[in-house]
Amino acid sequence: MHTQATRAFPKTLKPAMVGAKSLPQKYFVSPDVFADEQHKIFSKEWLLIGHQSQLPGAGEFFVVTVADESLIVVRDQQRQIRAFYNVCRHRGSRLKEEACGHTSAIQCPYHAWTYALDGRLMGAPHMDDAPGFDKADYSLPPVNLGLWEGFIFVNLGKNPEPLEKWFAPLSGKFSHWNVSILQPAKRIEYDVHANWKLMFENYSECYHCPGVHPQLQKISPYDSAENDLRDGPFLGGFMQINPGKSLTMSGNACAAFVGKIEKLQRVFYYSIFPNMLLSLHPEYIMVHQLWPQSPERTLIVCDWFFHPDAFLSEKFIPDDAIEFWDTTNRQDWHVCELSQQGIGSRAYRPGPFSSRESIPAAWDRYYLRVMR
Ligand code: FES
Ligand SMILES: [Fe+2]
Repeated sequence: MHTQATRAFPKTLKPAMVGAKSLPQKYFVSPDVFADEQHKIFSKEWLLIGHQSQLPGAGEFFVVTVADESLIVVRDQQRQIRAFYNVCRHRGSRLKEEACGHTSAIQCPYHAWTYALDGRLMGAPHMDDAPGFDKADYSLPPVNLGLWEGFIFVNLGKNPEPLEKWFAPLSGKFSHWNVSILQPAKRIEYDVHANWKLMFENYSECYHCPGVHPQLQKISPYDSAENDLRDGPFLGGFMQINPGKSLTMSGNACAAFVGKIEKLQRVFYYSIFPNMLLSLHPEYIMVHQLWPQSPERTLIVCDWFFHPDAFLSEKFIPDDAIEFWDTTNRQDWHVCELSQQGIGSRAYRPGPFSSRESIPAAWDRYYLRVMR
């Protein structure tokens, strides 16, 4: 027998989201909440920092800032990818200033202590005279690092759950996209004047698509979404692509397919807590990294990846997809910035989610669980 309360639910609303509203103002503007997020989320969760294709050979490295910590991410001589704090064990100097490059060893610019690519201290001039000094005690401080489908993740926590265990619920889900062997074609960075959570909420619904993305709406109807991950840290599902079409400026496929994709009329969108948006198309994937800079500013790094064979074809027109999504991204960031402006007002109160916003509601639920 139905209770009074369940009878009152519209059919399209899941009980979990009945009465769900957007988050209170403090979550978007408060420096205290921001500091709490940096501590509870960005210092403890597995965070996307790149893809293994961005470090093709031994000695390639890049520097990334995570929770205010500068990290060196490098492929060592055994081709293993490692991460270290960008801090010298002598007197603490920053080791690498450049954003990326190639190096045979990590040498400190101050007194020239030199570390191998696996972090071991190899050279420390005049330290043989220092009583009790042993180079073995002064390796670079390592950072937890793992690979999932070729994506590189780091975790600043002390003893985090292993990455494979964290991603176990998604095991094999994306294997036919061949994600681990894809190659990058383009990176665009966006400096967005909005709280990072607004971008997750925006990505997780297409209620806004008819008005905000007229070009997307023509190819992929806003009401065609079907979600298969509806609760927890991984959320999303697919939307339909109109027959014979592709999400590109021309509307045509711009590259060879990334793998044996069974359903060519689908684009899959997944948000992976707390800083990854994964968009899987038949012929390319697009990945966003979100890096909160302040309560009201977020750096977004967007990469496009294609199958290595696609690069060899004369019919490869990556810009057709990149321009399409660069336009769509900017449309999204604009409404996120408008949201930030309105949410900062004394008139803002949390507003009710529609039946088309069950995923943003689920994202907020999980976020609040982690923050508690
Ligand atoms: S601080 Fe690095 S060698 Fe002195
Ligand atoms: Fe959008």
